[in-house]
Amino acid sequence: MTQPVHLSLDINAQRHELDVEPRVTLLDALREELGLTGTKKGCDHGQCGACTVHIDGKRVLACLTLAAQAEGKAITTIEGLSTSGGELHPVQQAFLDHDAFQCGYCTPGQIMSAVACIREGRTGSDEEIREYMAGNLCRCGAYNHIVAAVRDAAEAPR
Ligand code: FES
Ligand code: FES
Repeated sequence: MTQPVHLSLDINAQRHELDVEPRVTLLDALREELGLTGTKKGCDHGQCGACTVHIDGKRVLACLTLAAQAEGKAITTIEGLSTSGGELHPVQQAFLDHDAFQCGYCTPGQIMSAVACIREGRTGSDEEIREYMAGNLCRCGAYNHIVAAVRDAAEAPR
C-alpha cells in the first residue's frame, strides 16, 4: 500500500485535516473521508458532471481532481452554498421554483455548474445556457426546467 499523505483542505470555509493515499480523488475524499455526500458520483470518468464542485470559484470535476491537487485552494461544495443561517442560494431557490430536478442525483452538480455559469456570464440566451450547462447530464430530462431556473437566477438582482 502506498504511504498516505497528510492533506489540509479548505472546504466551505472550514479546514479539514485528513490522511489519504495520494491517488484518492477529491470526490472520494469529500464523500468517503469527510462525509460530504452532496457531491455525487455518476461516472467517475469526467463524463456526467454529477461531481461538479468549485475550486477557487471555478467549476471543476471532482472525480478528475486528486484531493492533493486541491490543497491550499478554496473548495466549495453544494453543502457550502447556502448561508450559515440556512438561507438558500438564489440558484438553489430557482431550482425549487422551477422544478428543475426529479430524482435529485444530478442536481448538486447542476447547481454548482449553474452558479459558475452565471458567474462566467454565459447566460445571454437560453441557447448559451444550454451550451454551457451541457457538461451536466440529467437522466430525468429536467433540462427545460434547468434552463428556466438558470435564466431566472441570472436575471435576479444580486
Ligand atoms: S462523476 Fe465526475 S463527471 Fe461523472
Ligand atoms: S434530476 Fe434525475 S438525473 Fe437529473
